[in-house]
Amino acid sequence: MKKIAIFASGSGSNAENIAKYFADNNKIKVDCILTNKAEAYVLNRAKDLNISTMVFNRTEFYETNSVLNYLKERSIDFIVLAGFLWLVPKNLTQNFSKKIINIHPALLPKYGGKGMYGMNVHRAVKESGDKESGISIHWVNERYDEGNIIFQARCPISASDTPEAIAEKVHALEYAHFPRIIEQILLS
Ligand code: GRF
Repeated sequence: MKKIAIFASGSGSNAENIAKYFADNNKIKVDCILTNKAEAYVLNRAKDLNISTMVFNRTEFYETNSVLNYLKERSIDFIVLAGFLWLVPKNLTQNFSKKIINIHPALLPKYGGKGMYGMNVHRAVKESGDKESGISIHWVNERYDEGNIIFQARCPISASDTPEAIAEKVHALEYAHFPRIIEQILLS
């Protein structure tokens, strides 16, 4: 059984989608969900899905091995970042080398890097006048959004699309592709 840990900082709709996708899978499961925000709605979703959770603060994440120890104790095989807003520290990238992926709600390398998350991304895409947006699923290293890209999917944008409309189109791509790409990686 391949055990996945999902890291999220906010709503967690992707985390829920991934957990439900693998709910009846006998080879892959979402074992736990971790967050840096005690008030993140993803914790509500995890409770409803009966998935174990861990909440950590900046000191625990960057100055101790408490998150790494939690993942090792649960024999986690793979880490998925789904709306997780902090840089991943070296102790995790080194212990889970080539085993951490992230989804970014734009077509990297455009609209990536520090501060480019959530509606900030979709507003930047809108202001650019680009005719398309999309998602990028990539390997994670110590720098924001710079790991090798695994998969991208695109959606058209019309001049009348608001940032919220772009977000809706991008979320649809996330839900359609992220679980499938995770499955492809873990079964390859
Ligand atoms: C998604 O748009 C994802 O691409 C980005 O953060 C957002 C998370 O949304 N990394 P949710 O918390 O999964 O609803």
